[in-house]
Amino acid sequence: MINPKMEETLCRIARFYDQRKVGDVGCMGFRRSSNLKRLVPCLSAMINEGLLIPGSSSFLDMGCADGRVNVLLSYLTKISVGVELDEWTLDDYSGLRQELDKDLAKEGFFLVPRNIFLFHGDTMDPGLHERVFHKTGLCFDAFDLFYTYLTMQEEFAALINQKAKKGAVFMVYGLEKILPRFRGLHLLTPGKPFEGILALYRKE
Ligand SMILES: C[S@@+](CC[C@H](N)C(=O)[O-])C[C@H]1O[C@@H](n2cnc3c(N)ncnc32)[C@H](O)[C@@H]1O
Repeated sequence: MINPKMEETLCRIARFYDQRKVGDVGCMGFRRSSNLKRLVPCLSAMINEGLLIPGSSSFLDMGCADGRVNVLLSYLTKISVGVELDEWTLDDYSGLRQELDKDLAKEGFFLVPRNIFLFHGDTMDPGLHERVFHKTGLCFDAFDLFYTYLTMQEEFAALINQKAKKGAVFMVYGLEKILPRFRGLHLLTPGKPFEGILALYRKE
């Protein structure tokens, strides 16, 4: 369970980013942003089921864009790491963070923890995994949770199957009725994803 003050902070963060969504309409579709308001109850359910352990789990967003999911997860994880292919997309992180930090401080919410590490690069690239290791001390097989908003789900699932540790969880946001199956990963949310939007798979 997420305590009420923490939940208030997470909802405030969700409101901040959800008002600044990218790519929901028009030609920027590849930059679609997760709806953080829908994600908060999913995270709460994951905690209840022991899939996310606050202050202990390590998280990797495999295509983090402006890092919004990393900011949300930073409150609930030991370390929140993101990788983004497009440098100009990642560049949006700092400006948004400055604005968010000001709002949180002014309104008396918990400030964003200092456990966020974002990298420009390709999640599929072993050289990038090396850079993550040098900066954070975490190899690919040390992460507990992997995230994607539909992007490259087949390729990322194959990478997790190949390199992640047993028991690691792949979170695929944006799935509704049709839930793909991935080799070597067990679907934890058959029938219906959490909150109708987040499917979970566990590395066998
Ligand atoms: C749909 S957006 C999701 C952004 C963010 N995770 C969210 O949920 O709000 C997917 C992002 O993944 C990035 N991306 C695509 N392939 C990638 C790869 N191989 N490595 C890292 N980032 C990638 C895209 O540039 C895009 O910004």
